[in-house]
Amino acid sequence: MDKADKIREFDNATMAETTTPDMGIPFESCLIEGTPDPCMVVIVGASGDLTARKIVPALFNLFLNGGLPSPFFVFGCARTNLSNQEFRDKMKNPLKATNILDDQKWQDFSKSLYYQAIDYGELSSFRSLARSLRELDKKQGTGWNRVLYLAIPPSLYKSTAQMLGKAGLSVESEKKSGWARIVVEKPFGHDLDTAIDLDRSLHEHFQEHQIFRIDHYLAKETVQNILMFRFANSIFEPIWNRRYIDHVSITAAETLGVEHRAGYYEQAGVLRDMFQNHMMQLLALTAMDPPSLFEADRVRDEKVKVYRTIRPFPTADLKGYLVLGQYGAGALDGKRVPAYRDEPGIDPESLTPTFAMMKVFLDNWRWQGVPFYLTSGKRLAKKLTEIVVQFKEVPHSMFRQTLGEHITANRLSLGIYPDEKISLTFQTKNPGAKVCLRSVTMDFHYHQNYTGPILDAYEKVLLDCMLGDQMLFWRQDGVELCWSFLTPILSACESCGDRREMLLPYDSGTWGPKAVSDLKE
Ligand SMILES: NC(=O)c1ccc[n+]([C@@H]2O[C@H](COP(=O)([O-])OP(=O)(O)OC[C@H]3O[C@@H](n4cnc5c(N)ncnc54)[C@H](OP(=O)(O)O)[C@@H]3O)[C@@H](O)[C@H]2O)c1
Repeated sequence: MDKADKIREFDNATMAETTTPDMGIPFESCLIEGTPDPCMVVIVGASGDLTARKIVPALFNLFLNGGLPSPFFVFGCARTNLSNQEFRDKMKNPLKATNILDDQKWQDFSKSLYYQAIDYGELSSFRSLARSLRELDKKQGTGWNRVLYLAIPPSLYKSTAQMLGKAGLSVESEKKSGWARIVVEKPFGHDLDTAIDLDRSLHEHFQEHQIFRIDHYLAKETVQNILMFRFANSIFEPIWNRRYIDHVSITAAETLGVEHRAGYYEQAGVLRDMFQNHMMQLLALTAMDPPSLFEADRVRDEKVKVYRTIRPFPTADLKGYLVLGQYGAGALDGKRVPAYRDEPGIDPESLTPTFAMMKVFLDNWRWQGVPFYLTSGKRLAKKLTEIVVQFKEVPHSMFRQTLGEHITANRLSLGIYPDEKISLTFQTKNPGAKVCLRSVTMDFHYHQNYTGPILDAYEKVLLDCMLGDQMLFWRQDGVELCWSFLTPILSACESCGDRREMLLPYDSGTWGPKAVSDLKE
C-alpha cells in the first residue's frame, strides 16, 4: 500500500468513525477473548458474601454471554450444611436485585451448581471432596481441569491450600490429568514476612503458574484502558516524563465507612487495604515503560521495574511524605453518619487510619523529581477513582503583557469511577477582540457510542483464570516489592511515639484532613 492509499484509508476510517464509531467491528466479537477448556470451578467458602455477591453472578453472566466452556460445573464447599438445591437458591437470591436474572436461563445454569459441606481442619474431608469432584468430572467430562477459588478469610489460606494439595487437588500431570489453578483474594499477607510465608505455603503444592492472585481493580475496563491509551497512541508517550509532567495524582475515594468489615479493617487500615494492592497497580500502570509485547509476564516485568524504583520513605520524616487520617462523624448525601470509632465492632480508642495520602518518588530517568500523590480514604465527599496527570506550565508566556506570566497548565484526567472517561484540559482563546484565554476540556466517555454488553471485573478475572492468562493477576515478586516499600512505613507508623498525633481527624463527607494541602507544597 503506498502513502496515498494509506492516507485514503485513514480518511475513510475517520469518516467511518463519525458514523459507525466501532468501525464495523461487532461489539460481541470484542467481549469474549476465547473459550476456556471444559473445567470445574471449586469455591471454598461458598456460603459467604463473595461467592453470592460476586463469583456466582459473574459466572452466570459469563454463561449468558457465551463465555463459559461446555461441559462446566461449579462446586461450592464450606462448613455450613446445604443441599445442592439450597445452595442454588442461596445463589439465586442476590441476582433478583439485578437485571440479568432470566428464570429459564437460571434454570439451565443452576443445574451445574453443586455443594458439599467440608471441615477445613480435616484432611479426610478434603479427600472426600476430591472423590466427589472426580466422580462429577468423569460424569460431566470436564477433563479434570480445576479452578480452586479460596473465598475464605485470609487466616485460612495457608492451611486450606495445603489441604487441597494433600488431597491431590493441585496435581497437574501432562498424561492423565488436566490443569489446576488456585485463586487467592487480597490481602496477600499482612506485611512482608507474612506475604513471604503465605507464598511459601502456596508453593508447597502449587507452582507459580498455578497461582492466581486476584486484584479485581486491574480488570476494570478503564484501568486496562490506561495501557491502551498510553501505548496504542504515539502522541502521549514522548511527553510522558519529567520534562513535561509536573506531578501525578492518583485518587481512590470511597463514601462508604467500614460497613461489616470491622474485624478485618481494624487490623488492616487504609495502607494495607488500598495501598498495598490497588494504588500500587494504578501507580505501575501510569508510570511503567512500554512492554515489548502485550503478554502477561512482559507486562508484569515492567510493573515490577516501577516497584523497584520507588524511593524508600525517610521513616524519620514521615510527616513530609504521608498524611494519615481517621473519619469523624459527619454528613453524606444529607444523612448523618457516625465516626469510625463509633462504628459497630470498632475500638473506641482505635488508631487505625481510614485515610492516607502519600507523596511517592520514582528514582529513574523518566520520573526523577516528579511527585506522585496517592490518596485513598473512606467516608470522603464522593466515590471517585481517577488519575490526573498535571503537565508543566508553558516555559515562556508570550501573552505576559496582557495575561501575566501564569497560564493554567494542561491536565489529563483518566477517570475510572464514576465517570469512565478521559479528559484533556487546555487553553483556548475566548471569543472577542481582547486577548483572553479560557480553559476548556475535551472529554471522551469510555462507553460513548457503545451499546454492546460489558463484562464486569469479576467476570473478566474468572474468564482469564479459566483461560490461564495471568496478565491481570499479581506476581509474587510484585507483591513482595510493594510490601518491602510499605512494611517500614507501617512499622514506623504503628510503633512511633506520636502515633496518636499523626492520625488527623476529618469530618465524614469532606476530602480528608486539611494537612493534605501541606504535602502538595
Ligand atoms: N466480599 C467481598 O466483596 C470481598 C472483596 C475482596 C476480597 N474479599 C476476600 O475474599 C475472601 C472471602 O470473602 P467473603 O466476604 O465471602 O468472606 P466471609 O463471608 O466472611 O467468609 C466466607 C466463608 O468462609 C467461612 N468462614 C468464615 N469465617 C470462618 C472461620 N473463622 N473459620 C472457618 N471458616 C470461616 C464461612 O463459611 P462456613 O461458615 O460455611 O464455613 C463463610 O461463609 C476473604 O478473604 C475476603 O478478604 C472479599
